[in-house]
Amino acid sequence: MAKARVVYRCTECSTATPKWAGRCGACEAWNSLAEELSTPNAMALPSFAPAVAVRVGEVDAASTRPQTTAIAELDRVLGGGLVPGSVTLLGGEPGIGKSTLLLQLLAMWPQRTLYVSAEESAQQVRLRAERLSAVQPELWLLPETSLPHILTAIEQVKPQLVVIDSVQAIADPALPSAPGSVVQVRGCAHRLVSEAKRLGLPVVMVGHVTKDGGLAGPRLLEHVVDTVLSFEGDRHHSLRLLRATKHRFGSTSELGVFEMTGTGLAGVPDASRLFLTDRRTGAAGSAITPTLEGQRPLLVEVQALTNKASSGLPPRRSAQGLDGGRLALLLAVLERRAAVALGTHEVFASAVGGVRLTEPGADLALCLAMVSAFFDRPLPADVVVFGEVGLAGELRQVAHAPRRLAEAARMGFTRAIVPANSANGVDGIALTRVCTLNEALLAVGLAKA
Ligand code: TYD
Ligand code: MG
Repeated sequence: MAKARVVYRCTECSTATPKWAGRCGACEAWNSLAEELSTPNAMALPSFAPAVAVRVGEVDAASTRPQTTAIAELDRVLGGGLVPGSVTLLGGEPGIGKSTLLLQLLAMWPQRTLYVSAEESAQQVRLRAERLSAVQPELWLLPETSLPHILTAIEQVKPQLVVIDSVQAIADPALPSAPGSVVQVRGCAHRLVSEAKRLGLPVVMVGHVTKDGGLAGPRLLEHVVDTVLSFEGDRHHSLRLLRATKHRFGSTSELGVFEMTGTGLAGVPDASRLFLTDRRTGAAGSAITPTLEGQRPLLVEVQALTNKASSGLPPRRSAQGLDGGRLALLLAVLERRAAVALGTHEVFASAVGGVRLTEPGADLALCLAMVSAFFDRPLPADVVVFGEVGLAGELRQVAHAPRRLAEAARMGFTRAIVPANSANGVDGIALTRVCTLNEALLAVGLAKA
């Protein structure tokens, strides 16, 4: 066997260098090089049988039809369900509910399933399964961290769906590197992918994310798998959002909404209602906007609070669930184009309920919430607003206005402030079309004519 030597491998892009450095020379990530032992054949991938070329019409497409997971919010994100032989990576912070979701998935699966628990004992999993009413006769448990043993168990148990919890906790003793290292994570993932393809078996792997939200050992895994799901939410709220960030079998724009309850995750088909439950009408500093997540319209409350800053200190700005850069830009536009000078005020803004509002269509709601807070005057309670705000203070149209308006009408709103060029309205909502931020402020009674 060739002699092992030490190399330093970047945990972001997996480039190896013989010398340690504070910064990766390839992807320029800081502090990402980790020591590992390498033998010349350590990175060898499992060998595949040679593929045979066939006519496209002879390919059996039926074998890649997704099988429903019986969890509607998960099906929505996956575009119908799990595809046989596909490998899905579920990322999310510790404690967000990854294990819970996957145990529920296994329990609902109509055929035999295998849960490989590399982090928790079988007893711990059993206790959680009881809480989730997931103690099913065809749900098998394997508390194991060694990849060869896991593969043997898959051969013996013959499950129709496998969950690996987590990919960072399993290891292949044949690889000369510590569990959790880039070589291990990538090597194990590659091996699992080839097994999944060979057996036509759907596999879901849990992946931990680092503090800044990346999947540990990240991009390399994203390339290896078919689908990357991200499970998000504020641990102090019960709301959980599921998104696909990569999906070879469908769109990545759908959003799944769950609520963490005492007995597991419950799908939330009517998310707008949930987001608006705690809303207090008549309060200053609040605006409602119909946003779109994929095909799904959601009504979200944007809140703002402004306060005179103590002199001498630069005023604080904080954006929760909103983009900080966008907040700064809109404050500048408000000051220059609408004469609302918040330059000496602290500004706190948030999208309520743990959602992330990243589309520019939420600009108008953020502006109106800030001005409403500044003047301490509420917006009319029955109004929704949307529109992108340009640097000249002009309002630009956003996509799918009718779908947004229909959702607002369904939730009982009767007026909408929209960009002048927006598409036609829907029944039950009176439109006020405005060309500029100033006109929008006038329309909601926050400016004098
Ligand atoms: P878990 O699925 O273990 O998270 P992850 O695998 O992402 O680390 O879920 C952890 C949290 O969920 C834990 O703090 C307890 C809570 N929880 C509930 O609120 N209800 C439940 O039914 C379950 C099983 C967990
Ligand atoms: Mg877990």
